[in-house]
Amino acid sequence: MTYQEQLDKSRIPQHVAIIMDGNGRWAEQRGKQRTEGHIRGVEVVRKIMENAVELGIKYLTLYTFSTENWNRPEQEVTALMGLLFKNIEEDVFIKNQVRFRVIGDIGRLPAPIQAKLNECMEHTKDFDRSCMVLALSYSSRWEITRAARILAEKAVNGEINPSDIDESMVSGVLNTNFMPDPDLLIRTGGEIRLSNYLLWQSAYTELYFCDTFWPDFNMEELCKAILTYQKRERRFGKTGAQVAEEKQNQN
Ligand code: IPE
Ligand code: IPE
Ligand code: MG
Repeated sequence: MTYQEQLDKSRIPQHVAIIMDGNGRWAEQRGKQRTEGHIRGVEVVRKIMENAVELGIKYLTLYTFSTENWNRPEQEVTALMGLLFKNIEEDVFIKNQVRFRVIGDIGRLPAPIQAKLNECMEHTKDFDRSCMVLALSYSSRWEITRAARILAEKAVNGEINPSDIDESMVSGVLNTNFMPDPDLLIRTGGEIRLSNYLLWQSAYTELYFCDTFWPDFNMEELCKAILTYQKRERRFGKTGAQVAEEKQNQN
């Protein structure tokens, strides 16, 4: 049986976040320029988006360019921006009825990219089959710092009381406020770290790491990650016995 056939279709994670890592090493292993890896990576993004829709994943959040990635050699940053501009194709989203969103410090991106992103978000805003989110110029520390600033301004303006600030208010001023927290976070490329991605939101996310470089990631790998997720017991701080009892009461 394939991994896909083994999946419990009634327990597909609602939100899957992916750290798409390993493009550069994939290329270097083949004696190619790092950019070649990014080009292949973009093709995989398109396929995985379609796979996610097919599996019934409601939110797919892809770490595409981090705040720290601005520190890469200028030539690589320029190549990545060029690829981004070329590949924001609203036709693909419209065909799949997928809503497109971005999270991150979008104001740092070149103006033509910002315009294209905004247009694509506007033209897909009514689709609700699935939502694909690109994290661009994104990092959690940037996002949480921005949230602190927003709440401080509201307090100074008298709109809120500092003592009213609770977790849901903080979540409400994060860039991700339109979606649930990720159920599953996948990192490809062999590194076991989060690299400043969705740190607040992944407090209770199941983490999955694989060695496959992003350009080699595919539907089978995605299903393998989901299958591992389905074998885990999410306890949210409770005991296994409590979780079992809750499950029984639901049935
Ligand atoms: C991920 O691949 C893509 C981006 C960060 C833009 P990398 O470019 O980090 O590839 P490796 O980790 O160097 O192999
Ligand atoms: C994380 O990958 C960022 C993206 C995948 C966009 P990096 O390759 O930048 O992460 P580090 O530097 O290895 O932690
Ligand atoms: Mg990397």
